[in-house]
Order: sequence, then structure tokens, then C-alpha cells
Amino acid sequence: MAIGVFDSGVGGLTVHHRLVERFPTADLVYLADQENAPYGGKPGEEIVNLTRAGCERLFDVGCDLVVLACNTAASVALRRLQQTWLPGYRRELGRPVNVLGIIVPTIEAATGLPWEHEAERRGDKVEKLDVLGVFCTPATAASRVYEIEIDKRRQDVAVFAEPCPDLARMIEAGAGVVELAAAVEGHVSALSKRIGRAPDRAILGCTHYEIIADMFRAALPPGTPLIHQPDATADALARYLERHPDLRPGTSGERRFLTTGNPGVQHSLVETFWGAALTFEAA
Ligand code: DGL
Repeated sequence: MAIGVFDSGVGGLTVHHRLVERFPTADLVYLADQENAPYGGKPGEEIVNLTRAGCERLFDVGCDLVVLACNTAASVALRRLQQTWLPGYRRELGRPVNVLGIIVPTIEAATGLPWEHEAERRGDKVEKLDVLGVFCTPATAASRVYEIEIDKRRQDVAVFAEPCPDLARMIEAGAGVVELAAAVEGHVSALSKRIGRAPDRAILGCTHYEIIADMFRAALPPGTPLIHQPDATADALARYLERHPDLRPGTSGERRFLTTGNPGVQHSLVETFWGAALTFEAA
């Protein structure tokens, strides 16, 4: 079987890149829904429908497992799709297909705890508060998933999500370095103002932002740890495959890159990140 990787656009390539390194012989199909990107400002129902269509497309081309390498799709749509669509769709296909998200692995990495762990709330005094900033799309921020799920697990971590409304669109369009760096500085300073100081750690909670992670590093105080979503997701996938030895993710290392938008070569920001030109086929 092949593993599908889905994002609204090029952001999920940051996760895909890590999966290629971790699973060199796996057959991987990347799907960018660039026709509809960005997702971050869309209503929830639309995000659910687009995410379902993306998963269906990846199952159609032979994937049995889809990784949603998109915080917006995972935070808004994943639970809905797992509860209301996947069980029936599996029966229809006659295959045990599944969808994994990016939020659970990120929260595990941020809390240092397995997902199953939920803190017993004993009202213990918290000696030192760890302030975690999450830079994300407006839809992910509105879901409050990071605040809610981290708060259930760690009382000593305070989460502040900062919506960055235009950033994914700018990255998708291949905006210039100066323009992007100014936007990132603006978001980092807005968050720091809201907290009253800079965060102790940060999550780049939109996969597009990992492409410009250096700009976030430059805007945050030197040495601020960034929780790395691509690593966390690759680790979670490795554990999932260990628990499901019947799922063999291919052996030929075949890679396909599909887009619902314009096929062809992606812009130079993506090329610089990927380290080579990437040509997309029409989905
Ligand atoms: N890369 C996506 C995410 O992780 C989506 C960005 C967008 O389409 O707005 O949230």
C-alpha cells in the first residue's frame, strides 16, 4: 500500500520531507489542494468537505493510510470524519483505510506525555509556568484544540495561540523574504504583547510555517525551542506502523506529487526548502 500525505498546499511537504527520510522505501503520494488553498479562513463545514474529498482522492489512487499534514484540516475535520464518514466509507471500499492527524503527535511532543495520559486535576501548586506559543491559522486558533488538549494533560503549561491570517497564503504564493520576515515579526510581537513577554517555547502550528522556520527563529528570542511537527508526525507514524504490522507501506520508494491546482514546478521558496525542483501532476 501507499501512504498519502494531504495538505491544502505546499506546507505538508515539510512533513512529507521527513517521512521520505524516515521511510525511504515507502510509496508516498502527496496531494496539495491548491485549487482551494488556503483553508485557514474558511468556514468549518467547507474545511470538512474539502478534507474528505482530499482523503477520497488519495484512497482512489491506492493509499490505505492518509496523514493529514495540515493542522487546519486535522483540528477542524479529523474527528468529524473519523466519527461520521470513515466507518461507512471503509465498508464501501472494502478496505480498512485510515486517516491520521498531526495534532495528536504535536501535543504528545509538546507535553512529553502519550495521548492517553490526561492529568488528574488535583489543584497542585504550579511552581513554574511554561508558556507555549502556537502560531497557526485562524481556523486552528478558533478550534482551541491546542489550549484544550494541552490543558487536560499539563497544568504547568499555558498555551497562547496566535492566528496568522495571511501567512499561509503568502507562502503558497511564494512571497518575498522581506515581506515574509516582516509578517512573521509582526505575529511574534503581537503574541509577545498579548502574553506580556516572549513565549518559552513555540509550535509552528501550520505546516506552511515550517518552510520559513528560520524567520520564526530570528523573530523569537535566541534559542527558543520550536516543537518540530514533521519529526513528531514521523515518530507517530512509525509507532502506528509497528502496531499494525499488516500495513506494509510499499517497498519501491515511489513518490508522486499531485495538485488540484496548476500542475508543474512549484515556486523557489518550495524548491529551496525541498532542495530540488518539485514537479506536481494534476490530481
Ligand atoms: N498547512 C495548513 C496548516 O497546517 C493549512 C494552511 C491553510 O491552508 O490556511 O494549517
